[in-house]
Amino acid sequence: MSHKTSAQIRQEFFDFFAEKDHAIVDSAPVVPKNDPTLLFTNAGMNQFKAIFLGEEEVLKHEGKTWNRAADTQKCIRVSGKHNDLEEVGHDTYHHTLFEMLGNWSFGDYFKKEAIAWAWELLVDEWGLEPDRLYATVFGGDEEDGLPVDDEAIELWKSETSIDHDHILKCGKKDNFWEMGETGPCGPCSEVHIDLRSDEERKNKPGRDLVNMDDPRVMEIWNLVFIQFNRKPDASLEKLPAQHVDTGMGFERICAVLQGKTSNYDTDVFTPIINEIADMAGLKYGNDEEKDIAMRVIADHIRAVTFSIADGASPGNDGRGYVIRRILRRAIRYGWDVLDFKEPFFYKLVDVLAEQFKDVFPEILAQKEYIVNVIRSEEKSFLKTLGQGIELFNEMVEGKDKLSGGDAFKLHDTYGFPIDLTELMAREQGVEVDVEGFNKHMKEQKERARAAGKFSVDQSDSKSWNVVEETDEFEFVGYDDAEAEVNIIAYRKEGDRFAIQLNKTPFYAESGGQVADTGLITNGDEYLKVLDVQKSNGQFIHYVDKLPEDLSGSWKASIDLDRRIEIQKHHSATHLVHAALRGILGDHVAQKGSLVDENHLRFDFSHFEAMTDEQLDEVEQLVNEKIQENIPLQEERNVPIEEAKDRGAMMLFGEKYGETVRVITFDENYSVELCGGTHVGATGEIGYFRFTQETSVAAGIRRIEAVCGTRADSLLRDEKRLLKQVKGAIGQSQDLAADVMKLIEEKKSLEKELEQMQLQNTGAKLDELIQNAGSLDSDIKLVKGEIAGADMDVLKQLGYDGLQKTKKNTAIVLGSKDDEEGKVYLMVALSEDLIKEKGLKAGAIVGQLGRLVGGGGGGQPNLATAGGRQPEKLGEALEKVNEIITDSIS
Ligand code: SER
Repeated sequence: MSHKTSAQIRQEFFDFFAEKDHAIVDSAPVVPKNDPTLLFTNAGMNQFKAIFLGEEEVLKHEGKTWNRAADTQKCIRVSGKHNDLEEVGHDTYHHTLFEMLGNWSFGDYFKKEAIAWAWELLVDEWGLEPDRLYATVFGGDEEDGLPVDDEAIELWKSETSIDHDHILKCGKKDNFWEMGETGPCGPCSEVHIDLRSDEERKNKPGRDLVNMDDPRVMEIWNLVFIQFNRKPDASLEKLPAQHVDTGMGFERICAVLQGKTSNYDTDVFTPIINEIADMAGLKYGNDEEKDIAMRVIADHIRAVTFSIADGASPGNDGRGYVIRRILRRAIRYGWDVLDFKEPFFYKLVDVLAEQFKDVFPEILAQKEYIVNVIRSEEKSFLKTLGQGIELFNEMVEGKDKLSGGDAFKLHDTYGFPIDLTELMAREQGVEVDVEGFNKHMKEQKERARAAGKFSVDQSDSKSWNVVEETDEFEFVGYDDAEAEVNIIAYRKEGDRFAIQLNKTPFYAESGGQVADTGLITNGDEYLKVLDVQKSNGQFIHYVDKLPEDLSGSWKASIDLDRRIEIQKHHSATHLVHAALRGILGDHVAQKGSLVDENHLRFDFSHFEAMTDEQLDEVEQLVNEKIQENIPLQEERNVPIEEAKDRGAMMLFGEKYGETVRVITFDENYSVELCGGTHVGATGEIGYFRFTQETSVAAGIRRIEAVCGTRADSLLRDEKRLLKQVKGAIGQSQDLAADVMKLIEEKKSLEKELEQMQLQNTGAKLDELIQNAGSLDSDIKLVKGEIAGADMDVLKQLGYDGLQKTKKNTAIVLGSKDDEEGKVYLMVALSEDLIKEKGLKAGAIVGQLGRLVGGGGGGQPNLATAGGRQPEKLGEALEKVNEIITDSIS
C-alpha cells in the first residue's frame, strides 16, 4: 500500500485531470447561496446545474472558456437513505460532511473517456488491484422507456481490463442518478471495491455483495452520463448536449489507498481524533462506545465548521436548525460518553483550520469567528442540557413509564438521544415508550427529507410566450434611468404577469438591494413594474397587467426618486461596513444585508453588543466620509484575481464569476465587490443615523440605519418630540435631569399610595375580623371583599389575618377588577383547622375558583385562585360556608 497523504491523493486527482485539459476549480460553498430550496450542497454537480440544462454558457475560469472541469466539492448529506444523522459515527464510512472529487464534461467527452480515465487513475496511477473492482451499469427501466446501457457495458470491456464478470447490470435505484425531483439526470456507472481478504473473497464472490451495504464492498466512484432533464410532470426531456458528472468519495478513496478499513483511521480524520482523545485522556481504538463518541465528534466538527465558514449559523429553522442538531449531538456525546462537562467542541476548529489551510483557507481566515459561534452555542446548550435533566425528572416523577412524546421532546429540544433517555430512565426504574418515540422520529425525518429535497421553481417549466426571438439582453440601469425597449416574451405566473425585455434600466433584486419599480409605456398604454427578479441570466419584470398589443417600442423608466434613496442606503452600507471594520476590528465580516429606499440593515460577525460609544464613533466616521464627498469609482469587468490583490472586500462562501464589479469610495477606505447601484459621490447620502443595534444569532450583530431623506425626517421627528417634552415640562435648564426627577417623584408617590392602600385594606380586614361569623362547626369565618386589592395584597392580608386571629379561623377574601374581567380569591386557615378538621386551603380555593370561572391552588394553610367572571364573586363568597362545612373530615 502507498503512504500517500490525503493531501497528496487530492492533488494527484487534480493533476490527473489537469493533464487531461480540465480546469481545476474551487469547491462551491457548502451552503448554497442562490437556492433557498436546497439546504446544503449535496453533490459536486450542483454548481454546474445551469450549464447542464443549457441555461448558462460554458464555464469561464482564469480568463478562458472551458468545457471540462474537476474539483473537490464540500458536500453535506444529513438526510437520505444512508445518511441518517443518528447513524453517523456508528459506522466507519458515512459522514455528514464529505469531500467529493469530481470531473465534468460540459457537452464535450462522454462515456468512453469517463470510463477509460476512471480506470486509468484507479488502476494504472493508484495501483488498485483490478480483480477487486466491480463496475455497475444501468440495466434499463420500462417506466421511463429506457434501454439497458449496452454502450457502457461495451466500453468497460473495450476501454479497461476489467474482468467481464465484474460488470453488473443494476436497476434505476442504483444506476440512474437524479439531482432531485426535477433537474439534470442520466444513467450512471459506479465503481465498487471489494476490500475483503482473499480467503473471504474465495468463499463468496464480491459481485454478490455489491450494493448490499457491506462496509468492505463499497462504492467509490459514480460516473453519471447526464443526458436528460426530469420535468415536473416526471417526464424525461432530452438535453441539447450530453455531459459527464462524476463523484468519488474522497474519504473513502483515502482509506482504500492508505490500506485502512475505516475512514476515521486515515489522515483525514486522525488529527482530529487524536485531539479529541488527548482532551479526554483516552486512546482511540480501545473501547467501542468511546470510539463511537469520538467518531461522532470528529465527523460533526467538520460539518459545523465548514457550514459556519460558508455563512450559515446555528438557529431554529432550515439550515440553522440542521447545524444546531449536529452540533448538539456532538456535544451530548462528549458530555455523556467522554465526560466533557465544559465547552470543548470549539477547541477542535484549530485542528481543521491548520489541516485545510491550503485547500479550504476560509476556515483559517475566519477561525476566531467560527470558534466564537461554536463556543457560545456550546455554553447555552450545556445549560439546556441541565434543564433537560430537570425536565426529565419532572416527566418521570411518580410514573413508571415515559411517553414517546416526552422522550421525543427531550430529544428534539434538549438533544437527548433515546439511549441516554433510556439509561436515565433505567436508573430511576422507569420504562420508555421507544415505539412511540420512533414514531415521532419517523415523522420528523419525513419532514426533514421533504425540506431537503430539490424543488425546482415550477414557473421555469411553464413556457414563455415569445414575442420576439432574440438572445440579446442588456442591463443599462447602471447608467440610465430610461430606455427604449422591446417586450420579447411574456407569461402569466399565478396571478402575476411577467415580461422579459431586450434591455432594461430596472435593477433586479440582488445582493440585498431591492428591485426598482417604475413604468413601461407606449402611447396611452402603461404597465406598472411592481418587482423585478433574476432568473437564468434574464430579468423577469412583474407588471400589473398585460397590454393587448405587446409589439413595438416601449419606454421603460424607473422610479428615479425611489432609486436615488435606495442608492444612498446602499452606498452608506459600504461606508458603515468599512467603519465597523475600522472601529471594531478586521473580524467584522458581512453576513447579510438589505437595502431599500427607507433603511439599511447590515448583519456582521461580532461577538458582543456594540457599546453606545462604539455606535457613536461609527456613526461619526460614516458622516465624516459623507462630508468628504468622496466620488464613486466604479469599475466593471475587473478580473477576480486583480480585485483580490487590491484587497476588495469579498464575502466568504460567495461564488464569484471570473470578472467582477468593484465599487470604491477612496481606495484606502472602502473597496467592495458589488453589483448594486450607488451614489455618484458620498455627499449625496446627506446624513447617516443608526436606528437599532441587535443580535440576530450567536456571534452575529445587526445594525439598522437610515440616511438621505429618511434621516432628515427622523431628525425632524426627534426635534418635534423634544419640543413636546420641553413644552410639557416647562422651564428647564437641564431637561434630562428634570425628566429623571419627575420619574423619581412618581415612584415615591406610588409607594406612598401603596402604603395608604395597605392601611385601608388593613382597616377593612380588622373590620371583617370583628364581624366574623361562626359556622355550625364553630369555626370562625372571616370573609369579605377587599376593593382594589390584587393577589399580593390578598395574600398579605391572609397572613396578617392569621397572625391576628391565631386559632380556629378561616379567612376568605376576594376582590375583582371589572374592567380587566378578573377576580382574585384567597383562603387562609389556622393550623388547628388543618390538623384537627382535615381542611386544606388549596382544596377550598380550588372549588371557589371554579365558581368564578377559573382555578387555583397552593399550600394547605394559604392558597389563591383567579377567575375570569368577576360578577360571580358575591355568589362564591356566599357559598364559602357550605364548602368549608362540607370539607370537614
Ligand atoms: N452526481 C453524482 C453523485 O453525486 C456524481 O457526482 O453521486
